[in-house]
Amino acid sequence: MLRDILGLMTQCLNELKNEGVTHLVVEEKNLNALTQAVRAHAKPETTQTPNPAANRATPPPPEIAPTPATTQTTTLPQPPRIELPQEEPHAQLAWLQKRVLTCPTCNEHKRPSKQLVFGTGAINAEIFFCGEAPGAEEETRGEPFVGPAGQLLTKIIEAMGLSREKVYIANIMKWRPELPTPYGDRPPTREEMAFCLPFLHAQLAIIKPKVIVALGATAIEGLLGHDPSRTIGKIHGHWQKFNSIPLMPTYHPSYLLRSKNPQAKRILWEDMLLLMEHIHLPISPRQRNFFLAPQPNINPA
Ligand code: URA
Repeated sequence: MLRDILGLMTQCLNELKNEGVTHLVVEEKNLNALTQAVRAHAKPETTQTPNPAANRATPPPPEIAPTPATTQTTTLPQPPRIELPQEEPHAQLAWLQKRVLTCPTCNEHKRPSKQLVFGTGAINAEIFFCGEAPGAEEETRGEPFVGPAGQLLTKIIEAMGLSREKVYIANIMKWRPELPTPYGDRPPTREEMAFCLPFLHAQLAIIKPKVIVALGATAIEGLLGHDPSRTIGKIHGHWQKFNSIPLMPTYHPSYLLRSKNPQAKRILWEDMLLLMEHIHLPISPRQRNFFLAPQPNINPA
């Protein structure tokens, strides 16, 4: 029951966030009532069954959660300084992967028996998809975007006439942010993002993609910096730059999974059409018309 209510509330907050709302006023008495309700129902984390459908980029309202101070006020060390070896790109990427997988801080925050998630794809990829953080399935398999949102991303990539093997896929975070709530994932804190960003920057420096796709608000903030006026609703579909690389901000696939807006797929698809034009990928008339009418399946096959 409580989970349903919180799920609904999270969904509403996400809808607002995706529409560009960055602040909400919550009256003290409402906040207290919510906090008490959550505390009354909260179970220790070890008794929770991870919800595979819970997607990253699903920010629970952190203020209302019975959040232990340790997960909110983390004290991470200074972000790592990455100096890539003077070697060819494959060797650099292998070096970097080892650097991440043996990073003591990352391992300290990884859950026991789970994995850090480095990234996957082609070393010569033209397109670099960047998401937020691994979710339940990703930390189990050690690969980004393999859960429900990932399956949708794979279909989007295939609709572009590509495959996961031809692009590169990574996240801002290399570990799954610990769960401070009994009901799901949370977005990373700024401190967590700052710690992991040098790894992502190094991945970008090795892959040297022609374009970056920033999937969702966290990826946009991580790559472009914090700017409350730069909401996804405003900037999706408008080219930005990261270190002189054209960057296309767009919606996170988990937003499509949640959204009741029948146009949501088309909106994201139009951002991808712009990207395909930019790098001169062939676009068939059929591809141009994908998702003009609501369709049950994003897979064009
Ligand atoms: N959401 C993300 O942002 N990244 C993943 O790897 C999976 C879900």
